[in-house]
Amino acid sequence: MKIFLDTANIQDIGRYAYLIDGVTTNPSLLAREEGGNNLEGFIKKITSLINGPISVEVINQQFDGIINEARRISSIAPNIVVKIPMTPEGIRATSLLSKEGIQTNVTLIFSPNQAYLAAKAGATYVSIFVGRLDDIGHEGMEVVKNTLEIFKKQQCQSQVIVASIRHPIHVCDAATYGAHVVTIPPGVLDLMYNHPLTDIGLTRFLNDWKRASNAQ
Ligand code: G3P
Repeated sequence: MKIFLDTANIQDIGRYAYLIDGVTTNPSLLAREEGGNNLEGFIKKITSLINGPISVEVINQQFDGIINEARRISSIAPNIVVKIPMTPEGIRATSLLSKEGIQTNVTLIFSPNQAYLAAKAGATYVSIFVGRLDDIGHEGMEVVKNTLEIFKKQQCQSQVIVASIRHPIHVCDAATYGAHVVTIPPGVLDLMYNHPLTDIGLTRFLNDWKRASNAQ
């Protein structure tokens, strides 16, 4: 399973550049960053740190607007993936863009049927928002599980990105179900390194070693 970082924060991308396979941004994440409104300049900064896929979302919602914006965004760097919302106009645009060889990530997917339509249109990635489903009392991971099963049976080529990650258990579940990609916010990735027994074990090893060295 590939790990993407779900952020537009340059410091976080830099500190995890050794580990991650790509980055996903969205308008909310970019709006939080200083200079994030200068899209081209900001994305170039990210591409200087990461060779893997970097998702950047369109703002236009109508077919022609999406197509023009997607072509412009994808020309910024060869590793740009254009994020397109799961709407009828967005899916129509995805179909044309995929024929043009532009990589797409259909976003705001909340059901296996939406994921299937995006895959039929030739999306490179489909992003399922598990946290937002959990937030309203649905089982986000069930959508991931069912979508993966459908994609396997129907031989869909799109890769499933598990997005809207809230905690490390989401990541573990995504890997267990065989998701292609998980996109993780930096704070959740930080938490994945931790276990109290690791800290206790390390302290014990170091204390034992100090005692043995002092006894010499
Ligand atoms: O990048 C899309 C997605 O991961 C957003 O997550 O936390 O805003 O639901 P969240």
